[in-house]
Amino acid sequence: MQVILTNQSLTAVEADALYILQFEAEGRPATPSYDAVRAANPEWLAEVESSGEAKGRLFDTTILHRPQGFQAKRLVLVGAGKSDKFDPAVLRRLVGAAVRKAKSNGFAKLVLALDDVYATADFAAAIAEGVHTGNHEVDAHKSKKDERTELVEFKVVTAETPAALQEGFYRGNILGECQNFTRDLANEPGNILTPAVLVARTRAMAETVDGLEVEILDRDRMAQLGMGSLLGVAQGSPLPPFLIIVRYKPATPPTSTDHLALIGKAVTFDTGGVSIKPADGMEKMKYDMAGGAAVLGAMLAIASLKPAIPVTAYVPAVENAIGGNAQRPGDIVTSLSGKTIEVLNTDAEGRLILVDAIEYAKRQGATHMVDVATLTGAIVVALGHIHVGLFSNNDAFRQSVQASAARQGEKMWHMPLDDEYREYLKSPFADIGNIGGRWGGAITAAYFLKEWVGDTPWVHLDIAGTGWLDENKPDMPKGPTGVCVRTFVDLALNWK
Ligand code: BES
Ligand code: MN
Ligand code: ZN
Repeated sequence: MQVILTNQSLTAVEADALYILQFEAEGRPATPSYDAVRAANPEWLAEVESSGEAKGRLFDTTILHRPQGFQAKRLVLVGAGKSDKFDPAVLRRLVGAAVRKAKSNGFAKLVLALDDVYATADFAAAIAEGVHTGNHEVDAHKSKKDERTELVEFKVVTAETPAALQEGFYRGNILGECQNFTRDLANEPGNILTPAVLVARTRAMAETVDGLEVEILDRDRMAQLGMGSLLGVAQGSPLPPFLIIVRYKPATPPTSTDHLALIGKAVTFDTGGVSIKPADGMEKMKYDMAGGAAVLGAMLAIASLKPAIPVTAYVPAVENAIGGNAQRPGDIVTSLSGKTIEVLNTDAEGRLILVDAIEYAKRQGATHMVDVATLTGAIVVALGHIHVGLFSNNDAFRQSVQASAARQGEKMWHMPLDDEYREYLKSPFADIGNIGGRWGGAITAAYFLKEWVGDTPWVHLDIAGTGWLDENKPDMPKGPTGVCVRTFVDLALNWK
């Protein structure tokens, strides 16, 4: 598929469908594209408006075949909602939805009119992102692909194409593609995407760009270092564990010593271990590596977009399996930092692999850390599938992560992390227990991580509810979402 930004004439451009934004009447901004529709097809538009069939509500579509005065075969008015609520996040969803609908309609060449008022870098980025994420099918393992039309071309038509607009458009193309890379990884089943295969995919990914360096710690190396917490999780599986490290360094040395670490949980399949999960829905636990996948997708984008600060990804990759050698409830392991953990529940494994990665990242010089993990069912209870659960030990850093998330339209909700929660994690026999009882499960999981983080500015993102969609949405089919990729890249690009 070609994704093009051009200043061609709207009336002369050829397309199966030409999309024009239609805002709700109240406060509708005067946009040249909507005016052009009115100028050439006044009766049709007057009827559409007066009949009330298209009110400009978000995702509404009204089609005019063989419009007067346009080369395009169809005009599609897309409801853009209230103009005061319109932002890049809305446009991204609109474009994603339009693309998905167009494919099922059999349209191959699409054009979107981008009017002057909205011709900014961030709107242009959002369009490109929506095109890629909307066009993407998670069908790698279908031998017969869906009949739906392949999108051949998506063109954005603007009055002018200044450099800033082109930069935004370029960035959006990269971000959309990298988010799809993450979605593909997250969708891979546990038999195909083993920890070793994730290593191979990481190496292959790094080969496609300039400036990424991959280092892999294997079981022997991790044992030598003393990563007893991570290795305890891995010991039940015949599949060897790895700690995947991907480094990006800016070409010109940065002026500060800041070094961002992105740490992503990659449990390639989570059976729960001896504290085994119920059978119902267990197949979804293939996406228990969505955090690691998000971090790797972000690194791919970072290598292309080249932020000014160094970023290193740490992805602990293990399978949480059942077997004669699996760790038992009650086992006590010693983590890399020396802290001992009583493994009260082998299904609370994500935190066990993350703390060794966190300690290692600190030793490697991370000054700021963000971890992302499908960590708890409890966050789904708390926030549903709408918000990522966000926890932090540092207000300033939290606010920059939240600012990036807001710019990228990724909803994140700040959760508490008060010291009173430490109580819940007490163990009579070790320094800490790996679970905190029935209540506040997402918080105790985050608090557990915080014990290893110490004072380094840190944000923890629990994506158990947002990394996977159980139902189709207009702009994205059910399955992996690739959440957090855009926020991470935005954070690195806008580092202050
Ligand atoms: N991978 C799961 C969390 C999860 C649940 C992700 C649902 C996606 C959807 C995690 O390893 C886990 O099993 N957590 C336990 C923790 C409990 C044992 C304290 C949970 O949430 O039940
Ligand atoms: Mn688990
Ligand atoms: Zn898990």
